[in-house]
Amino acid sequence: MSKVKFYNGSNIPLEFHRARIVQKVNLLPIEERYEALVKGGFNSYRLDSKSVFLDMLTDSGTNAMSDLQLSAMMKADDAYAGSETFARLERAVEEVLGKRYTIPAHQGRAAENVIMRALIKPGDIVPMNYHFGSTVNHIKLNGGKEVELLNRDSFISNSDELFKGNVDLTLLEKCIEEYGRERIPFIRMEASTNLIGGQPFSMANYKEVRKIADKNGLKILLDATLLGENAYLITRREEAYKGASLASVIRTMCDLADIVYFSARKFTCSRGAVICTDDFQAKLLMDQVVAVFEGYVTYGGMSMKEIEAIIQGLYEATDEDYISQSPSFIKYFVDEAVKLGIPMVTPAGVLGAHVDAKLFCDHLRLQDYPSCALAAAYYLCSGVRAMDGGTASEGDPNNPLVFADMELMRIAFPRKVFTLSQTMYALDRLKWLYDNRKLIGPMTFDDIPGMQRCFRTPMKPIGDWPAKLIAKFKEDFGDSL
Ligand code: F0G
Repeated sequence: MSKVKFYNGSNIPLEFHRARIVQKVNLLPIEERYEALVKGGFNSYRLDSKSVFLDMLTDSGTNAMSDLQLSAMMKADDAYAGSETFARLERAVEEVLGKRYTIPAHQGRAAENVIMRALIKPGDIVPMNYHFGSTVNHIKLNGGKEVELLNRDSFISNSDELFKGNVDLTLLEKCIEEYGRERIPFIRMEASTNLIGGQPFSMANYKEVRKIADKNGLKILLDATLLGENAYLITRREEAYKGASLASVIRTMCDLADIVYFSARKFTCSRGAVICTDDFQAKLLMDQVVAVFEGYVTYGGMSMKEIEAIIQGLYEATDEDYISQSPSFIKYFVDEAVKLGIPMVTPAGVLGAHVDAKLFCDHLRLQDYPSCALAAAYYLCSGVRAMDGGTASEGDPNNPLVFADMELMRIAFPRKVFTLSQTMYALDRLKWLYDNRKLIGPMTFDDIPGMQRCFRTPMKPIGDWPAKLIAKFKEDFGDSL
């Protein structure tokens, strides 16, 4: 991407692929977008996808697959046991990630279920850079507790810190001292830490974590769901790795971990998940859980076609042209948004452009669920479905005054799905909304909250602010969609 310079000095991302299969999308008039919001309880997860123009909710399972992935699916060996496809997966895992044992599961959180059931006992502690929602639920369901080790500065959205996903090493040492290593089954490192804006950790920090783990006889579990992007940013941002190949950085990151797992919905643009390790005892424990919850150990709840797509996806993950597409579009979006004065998480991370909803809606209180309100207002004015990542989903369901660490709206960039003009449209409408942000009003829950409530709970606006936003949109855009 950045290996090509434009004669006119523009700094726009250039794609190294061509689209040969396309899918039509529809932009409804604003009145119908409002109806869709009402029907969906003002919760982006509850919108019908046919009402959405640009679906930028997530990159999970929505990345574009390559021609080679689609064609690989045709050679799947569907044998229940001893499938040739599984043998190919084991080979690819060994070649790309360097691990001997491969354990399949039907998606990332299923892999977490397998790992946590096999390795966590009640009273255990899992130190980690930062949690992902499903991870923490599985730790808790097995009687454990997470301890987060990010430096508080990682939560400052507007920052120059290149590696916000780094573990605070002093906190890690303190945690081990306080709880004792017997209670720590592993330290979890999440590549491109999702919930703080897809922010990477550095190799230097990760190597220090390894040293501390070795000193204390502890294992490291690497959540590699966004590994390719973290590796890519290491080659861009860390002096010692500038010019290193993605394949070598990915390999080093896996070598430093005892167990690696990833959601294949992101890492290899397919479905399913993979766990891999050189630890034979851990593999035996995990195999038993797979057999109960996922299916036989050579398919783990996936179709063999998906596994063939994962195999090809693993090789493609080492190709910079492939991995850099989404981060470079995100960087373009974030850099342009910052120029327009919009409060974004900086430096640009991966998986999506993240808007700081607390600053965007600084006239709202945190208990007004600003990121929910922003996501609803953004859909209303653009037809773009973004994701609320704040107190509505991360707070305490039993205490509305416990707030999430960050209040973000994520505009996801699934790989190779959206064009630059669509990206510019999404930015244009965000700027319009920013200029009219005082019209965005508070939200409240319209249902009984529960675990992971963001996925299913209807919300409702307090007052008639959506009507005022629509009126202003009509005034500014006339009969434009
Ligand atoms: N770990 C990370 C870092 C993730 O981002 C996800 C999913 C998972 C684990 C769980 O994987 O969905 O296959 O069960 N993230 C999705 C997202 C849901 O939209 O960011 P899964």
